[in-house]
Amino acid sequence: MTEQAFAPQRIVVTGGAGFIGSNFVHWVVNNQPGVHVTVLDALTYAGNRQNLAGIPEDRLDFVHGNICDEQLVDQLVSQTDAVVHFAAESHNDNSIADPTPFLQTNVHGTYVLLQACKKYDVRFHHISTDEVYGDLALDDPARFTESTPYNPSSPYSSTKASSDLLVRAWVRTYGVRATISNCSNNYGPYQHVEKFIPRQITNLICGIRPKLYGDGLNVRDWIHTEDHSSAVWCILTKGKVGETYLIGADGERSNIDVLRAILDGMGAGPDDFDWVRDRPGHDRRYAIDSTKLRTELGWQPQHTDFAQGLAQAIAWYRDNEDWWRPAKEATEAKYAAQGQ
Ligand code: NAD
Ligand code: DAU
Repeated sequence: MTEQAFAPQRIVVTGGAGFIGSNFVHWVVNNQPGVHVTVLDALTYAGNRQNLAGIPEDRLDFVHGNICDEQLVDQLVSQTDAVVHFAAESHNDNSIADPTPFLQTNVHGTYVLLQACKKYDVRFHHISTDEVYGDLALDDPARFTESTPYNPSSPYSSTKASSDLLVRAWVRTYGVRATISNCSNNYGPYQHVEKFIPRQITNLICGIRPKLYGDGLNVRDWIHTEDHSSAVWCILTKGKVGETYLIGADGERSNIDVLRAILDGMGAGPDDFDWVRDRPGHDRRYAIDSTKLRTELGWQPQHTDFAQGLAQAIAWYRDNEDWWRPAKEATEAKYAAQGQ
């Protein structure tokens, strides 16, 4: 059972200059002609104004600011129909090195947004992750569902779990009109070079050997960013307030299989990489059962050919060196200092 469709005319997108947030903004501008978007983004190391290039001025306002800034958030939320909340510190390895910004942005920032949505009775959609459920064994036939107990492992995933719990409490206690989505690993263009797939592609372009953590058998459930974006719009407009929806596209693959596909796609040999120190607390396997989203809201992923998506990603990083080069050296220096 879905509620009557919700049709926002103005939305605030937090973190809209990041990898997934900017994809969502382009998706909305391209697919929802009547909707105006205001992006609120602090432009941290992970945000890039260029990610929003090409969007007509009459469709987008860009606000450079922090979701922890109560006054600014109050002002923006008072003038919108909905908030779609992507802004976060998003990288596990960074959270292990320094959890502080994860607590500030992921927990306190979500609280500030919820308070404003409560004050103005504004619809809120919270973007979360499958990592809140912890991990699964490689041989476990189970996948995560909406009723899997929370069991986060890392500073990153525990702050995302905390933010989900805040959203649930604000729904129940204050009647905030909110939904939550927990998605699996995204890939596609504009992903920061700190993340697994872009790191290995850009390493090969730079003549650096790719780096694989641990035994390489950890499994991630890959989804193309475009499919995450269409799912978020579907939940925002058709989802039932108070509900959680898992987003996934049946894309389970081991890290070593993904790396070997990249090596093959870029003309390198299957063993042309380095084994490096494992991530502390490294989750073994993630896997999403997205039956609820598909059966209740009618969503389907469109970009399920992983080989094709990976080839497009490789081509994109080859063609867009200007975009990723400025971040590459510092990212690799940070990894080298961590033995990774
Ligand atoms: P990202 O790191 O690429 O982008 C994060 C964006 O948020 C950046 O533009 C950054 O400038 C902005 N930001 C950070 N702190 C901010 C603050 N205090 N105020 C305002 N803006 C701030 O992240 P991503 O990979 O695009 O992830 C987006 C969201 O999706 C996150 O909530 C993440 O937890 C979730 N998610 C990511 C994945 C994935 O595979 N990347 C999968 C599932 C869920
Ligand atoms: O599952 C959703 C999550 O996916 C999101 O919530 C996070 O924001 C996003 O960063 C991602 O988390 P992961 O930790 O799974 O992604 P990452 O790209 O960092 O790593 C993917 C896998 O690859 C993981 O098992 C660690 C491994 N890895 C990573 C890097 C950077 C390597 O083996 N070598 C590497 O160099």
